[in-house]
Amino acid sequence: MKYSRREAMRMAAGAAVGLPWLESGCMRGRPLARIFPSHTALPKAFEAALPILPVQKASGSDATSDCYEMAVRPASASILPGLITAIWGYNGTFPGPVIEARRGRKVSLRLKNELPVPIVNHLHGGRTPPESDGYPTDLVMPKGEFPAARMHDPRARVAHEEREYVYENEQRAATLWYHDHRMDFTAAQVWRGLAGFYILRDEEEGRLPLPRGEREVALLICDRSFGVDGSLIYPAFDPSLRDIPGIPMDYMGGVLGDVILVNGAPWPRLEVANTRYRFRILNASNARRYQLALEPGAGAAPLVQIGSDGGLLAAPVVQRSIAIAPSERFDVVIDFSRYRVGSQVRLVNRAADGPQGQVMRFDVVRQERDESVVPQRLSRVEFPDPAHVAATRVFNFSYRGMEGWTINRKPFDPDRMDARPKLDSTEIWRLETDFSHPLHLHLVHFQVLSHSGRSGPFDSGWKDTIDLSAGQVANILVPFAGYRGRYVFHCHNLEHEDMAMMGNFEVI
Ligand code: C2O
Ligand code: CU
Repeated sequence: MKYSRREAMRMAAGAAVGLPWLESGCMRGRPLARIFPSHTALPKAFEAALPILPVQKASGSDATSDCYEMAVRPASASILPGLITAIWGYNGTFPGPVIEARRGRKVSLRLKNELPVPIVNHLHGGRTPPESDGYPTDLVMPKGEFPAARMHDPRARVAHEEREYVYENEQRAATLWYHDHRMDFTAAQVWRGLAGFYILRDEEEGRLPLPRGEREVALLICDRSFGVDGSLIYPAFDPSLRDIPGIPMDYMGGVLGDVILVNGAPWPRLEVANTRYRFRILNASNARRYQLALEPGAGAAPLVQIGSDGGLLAAPVVQRSIAIAPSERFDVVIDFSRYRVGSQVRLVNRAADGPQGQVMRFDVVRQERDESVVPQRLSRVEFPDPAHVAATRVFNFSYRGMEGWTINRKPFDPDRMDARPKLDSTEIWRLETDFSHPLHLHLVHFQVLSHSGRSGPFDSGWKDTIDLSAGQVANILVPFAGYRGRYVFHCHNLEHEDMAMMGNFEVI
């Protein structure tokens, strides 16, 4: 291999004493995600107000498009009480500003790289031409001298200091998000703050009487850990993130934080009226899964799911709790009229105990009129006919010791094409796993045909990520619409992704 991953693995193995994942934190020899503990006392829950994420103003508009300019730069944030946290942020904020887009209107996003490292931007869930999709080697280099990229890729489109990304927005309304995708360093760079919402709206959705305005709230959930001085800490070999990729073997399964942030605030609270609210929930964590539920639950229908990764569902689905893996989005309506004014309702995470078992709190503080309705028919969702599939492919996601996390036993290589689907054809991909992996395809949205032989409770609608647990098999129906070109698919546990669990497909 012309690439340093093995090198990094060797360093990792050398740095660790013995093979720690064989003794603890492993599942049949596969490393589990584990907490990288904060060195500071955890902040108190439900003290901070939930930050409402600011919407980015367009720097210019014409008949067909809106232009946005953002500098990606180091900045400071106040996340923990009394401490300042150094972050890397789009326009210096974490999470990044919200980009609001309309179907049929192009967005041109001009990013200036003012960080000391290369960046790549990817619009997750976007049907984007390949040159703007943020292929991991399509680096935007920082100013000044920088060591050459270790990953050799003759097709890489390297830019210097800035790049314009063009998003066509020829797709249905959905909650998308943008984040860094730099080869080998995605996990560490997203951890430092490089993620934000991109909300695509259309007329079909705009006509529905769903909660809106102040009662439509985007929630970016992620876990992080902090040093004594309030800094974000991450177990990177090279904390400058300039040259040597990788993290110690202990953390190969994924890095978990012990502080749960929503919109960048630890365990925040939001004051609400006793009406319906719409929450666009994104799990932007590197490796943490959540099982979200309300406590107290207030009757049989606490969470009404109206949308998934790919936009509105055909009809609402009542959920008692929602399992959300890294990069997934759930669009949910909560009706606070089920609670008395004065109630405190916690959004909890049943997938963890202790502090990580809490997410945020809603305080029902006032009575207001509610004109919103959740219609029984939300949207037209038409899937292709599985009788007309052009090809069926099998991908096996597994752990292979020194090779890292692999697909069909091979670590990522930009030179190897794992599939060549034809433009406008539909394929079935059979996904198999040894372990739990949230699997994501760029460019496309897919329908989950079966998830371990059944239909999964969280697989409704159009998806761009499917979460498989150990030993599961899923069949997904994938229409390859949009553009010809090279794209990646990968595990969205960002440590698995950086440790080679990524493949290529080329739409031809
Ligand atoms: Cu959020 Cu390659 O993806
Ligand atoms: Cu994975």
